[in-house]
This record gives sequence, structure tokens and C-alpha cells, in this order.
Amino acid sequence: MRRVSIHVLKEMKKRGEKIAVLTAYDYPTARLLDEAGVPVILVGDSLGMVVLGYDSTLPVTVDDMIHHTKAVVRGTQRAHVVADMPFMSYQAGFEDAVRNAGRLMQEAGAQSVKLEGGKTVADTVRRLVEAGIPVMGHIGLTPQSLHQLGGYKVQGKTPAAAVKLLNDAQALDEAGAYAMVLETIPAALAELITERVSIPTIGIGAGPHCDGQVQVIHDMLGLFPDFVPKHAKQYAQLAEEVSRAAREFVAEVAEGRFPTEKESFVMDEAALSELTRVA
Ligand code: KIV
Repeated sequence: MRRVSIHVLKEMKKRGEKIAVLTAYDYPTARLLDEAGVPVILVGDSLGMVVLGYDSTLPVTVDDMIHHTKAVVRGTQRAHVVADMPFMSYQAGFEDAVRNAGRLMQEAGAQSVKLEGGKTVADTVRRLVEAGIPVMGHIGLTPQSLHQLGGYKVQGKTPAAAVKLLNDAQALDEAGAYAMVLETIPAALAELITERVSIPTIGIGAGPHCDGQVQVIHDMLGLFPDFVPKHAKQYAQLAEEVSRAAREFVAEVAEGRFPTEKESFVMDEAALSELTRVA
């Protein structure tokens, strides 16, 4: 089966077909998403928060991303797998960027990489594309700049901030990015950017007018009931289901109701009587 390519994604924008993107960080989830027909799977550096238990994405390393991207690639046949470039894997210089993006493609098997920033990373995007590495951009709320932004806040709310984001989007388009994430910006701004760029925009908290939508799988499956971002919709409540199953298991083990004969293995009569004789 052929994987979804960046050309297919660009064609989808032209045809007005919306692009669904979900994050995954492991083999079984990636398999389920691939089989469900999700065309793009993002191994996001949200990994740090939803899987590794950090309080931001900043501690995530290139090796972390390679480890998890490999598992996702093994679980997929058709989906286009995008690997996030983690904090400080591309900011310090072009050489770093090309080497680290190259590792995500060569060692981990990703089909493209994603990095955060607009005009300031446009030259890096250009270098990566020249090296044969497809790049997805990411502007608006860029979690790797959490401390610079002063928190996880809506971006582009004033006319000046909105124009800056529009310029950032155009810079990524001109630099050769094949798509870009628009995170937590007003819907009207996302609509304007989507009209003005030639490549697909993938929104998260950016309203309905983007060319596609991305969600973090833990948010849409309801795995974090204590915090549900405003942009997220829970399509399942798996946290409740996991807790219920774990409580039932604990009770059944405590009461000797698990395992039963059904989950046990038998020894044939002759082996059993020989065992009784020798033991
Ligand atoms: O890391 C991530 O999961 C992301 C998405 C939120 C777009 O960058």
C-alpha cells in the first residue's frame, strides 16, 4: 500500500478535501489510526507532556522522538508520518537542523518533519527542503516558545500580531514548507491565512476554515479528564474506562475470581500423574 505523500496533501487542499491529522506515539495506537484511515499521523513533541509526564515539551530530545517515531512508523502502512523536531534540535544552526531532521527521516523512518516558527525559521526550512526533507511549519501558539510567549495563550488577537502571523505563514509557504499547523489563533485569522497561502493549513484551536484539523490523541480519547483544552472534543472517555477496568481487575484478583479455568492451562493426565509420582 502506498503512503499518503505531501503531493496528495497539497492536492487535497486544491480539491477542498479536509485533512484529518492525529498524534500518535506508539505502535498499537498508530496501527489503529492507520487502519481507521487517518491520512496523517504526527509524532508530536506533545509526547513530553502526554506520554512522558513532563510539564512542557522542552525536555523532549531527538532520541526520544526517534524512539517513538520508529514505533509509529512500524505501526503504519498508509499514513504519512510527520516527526516533530524537538526544542533546540534546529534553533542553533542549519547544520544541526539538517543533521537532526535527517536522523528523524533516516533512523526513525518519518516521511517529513515539523518545526515551530515563522520568518525566523524560513531559511532553515529552505535548507531542509533543499536537502530533500519535506517540512511542515507551525505558527501561532508555539509551545517550544512557552516562556517567550508567557504561557499557552491565544495568539494573533491584535491587528499587528495578526499581520505578523500572516507574514510568517507566507514566509513558510515561500520557503517551501508543504503544510503548516496554525495553533490557537482566532478563526477569522486562520481563514485569511488559509486563503493567502498555497499549502494546506492544519488547525488546532484555529476554527473550522483551515484545510485540515489536528488533535492530540489523548485529548480526543478523553485520557486526561482533569484538563480538556477548549479546542478539543472528546470522542471517547477512555480514562473512565481504563480506571473501571483496573478497579475490576484489582477486585477480581483480591477475591480469587481471576484467573478462572478459561484463562488457565492444563497438563494432560499422564504428565500430571508422572509429576505427582516424582515431585
Ligand atoms: O506536539 C504536538 O502534538 C503538536 C500538535 C499540537 C500540533 O505540535
